[in-house]
Amino acid sequence: MLQSKQLAAMGYLVGLLVIALAGVTSAVLYAPRQSPVVYPPPQGSAIQESYFAFQLKSFRRSLKECAEYWEIPWYRVQKLIDNNFEHASKDLQCLIRCAGVNSGWWDDLDGLRYTVIESYFQPDVDDTCYADRTKECIDQRLSSCRTDCAKAYESFMCYLQQYGSLKSSEEYIPLTRLEAIQVAVDCINILQVSDDLLNQISQGEIPDIPEVHCLYRCQYLGEGVYDTQYRFNFSRLYIRHYDTPSPEFLGDEIYNCAQSTLEANSDECTGVFRARECFPVSDSPSRTVTILTTAAGVALDQKRCEPPIYREPYLPEIPFIQIDPVGPLVDPVPYK
Ligand SMILES: *[C@@H]1O[C@H](CO)[C@@H](O)[C@H](O)[C@H]1NC(C)=O
Repeated sequence: MLQSKQLAAMGYLVGLLVIALAGVTSAVLYAPRQSPVVYPPPQGSAIQESYFAFQLKSFRRSLKECAEYWEIPWYRVQKLIDNNFEHASKDLQCLIRCAGVNSGWWDDLDGLRYTVIESYFQPDVDDTCYADRTKECIDQRLSSCRTDCAKAYESFMCYLQQYGSLKSSEEYIPLTRLEAIQVAVDCINILQVSDDLLNQISQGEIPDIPEVHCLYRCQYLGEGVYDTQYRFNFSRLYIRHYDTPSPEFLGDEIYNCAQSTLEANSDECTGVFRARECFPVSDSPSRTVTILTTAAGVALDQKRCEPPIYREPYLPEIPFIQIDPVGPLVDPVPYK
């Protein structure tokens, strides 16, 4: 009695297993074809959060990309890493410069952008002089550097040896000016900013109206310094303002001021616009104003273009050839 019940239960389980296996097999066989190559390949869950226009990159990835750009085999880079980046040959120094350009901490004209490179290094908890030591190191070593590659490499080495340990995490890369202008042009298109307002903005006039408030919110979303849920990200604002480094961004004062401004305004766009009054005044006119002004000009230029003229599609005359359906496709070539 008991046995037959057990058997029935087992049979039931085996049946379930067969159905499950069949399901898996058909899922593998009939899975839809993957869309074209995604770079970087998605990790873990297939659906990734939208990152808007900004990027996060690990130091290793920026090195990897540069090794590809410069056609440097990875084993040489690995050897450099294993060697704590010491005694890099000229081409490997240039690889470090490339990684710096790639992740925004190096620019041949401006030199080192320290608000950007800082995020790649973790100082020791009880180290209080790392910043001073790093600065001293850079002052000493860079004076004797001749090339941009050597300058970028020595700056990196000062951070590695004096500031803290190299992180493996992905860090925020500030948008270049050109990329930020592209974000603004996209926002202008997305929010359907009127020509009148564009004319005004392109002349450097930023009126205090709802359309402009939302343009700012859009720009901050695209650059990754604002998020509807988490609000302003002041670490990123600090990195983004590499031209006029303002540690005030990291303090409580600006945070509290911005937070209460956001809460005081029922309209999110307006809250974001008004919260800017809490920001440091060191950059004037502000980075965003110059970006919006340029972008408004670009957007207007694009609109001024004549509408595309309709042209008849070019169809060359092809002589009509009668094909014999049973005849050979090609003329047989006689053997010699
Ligand atoms: C703010 O930005 C930093 C740097 O990219 C990041 O580590 C942190 O998670 C961000 N905070 C939020 C709440 O998104």
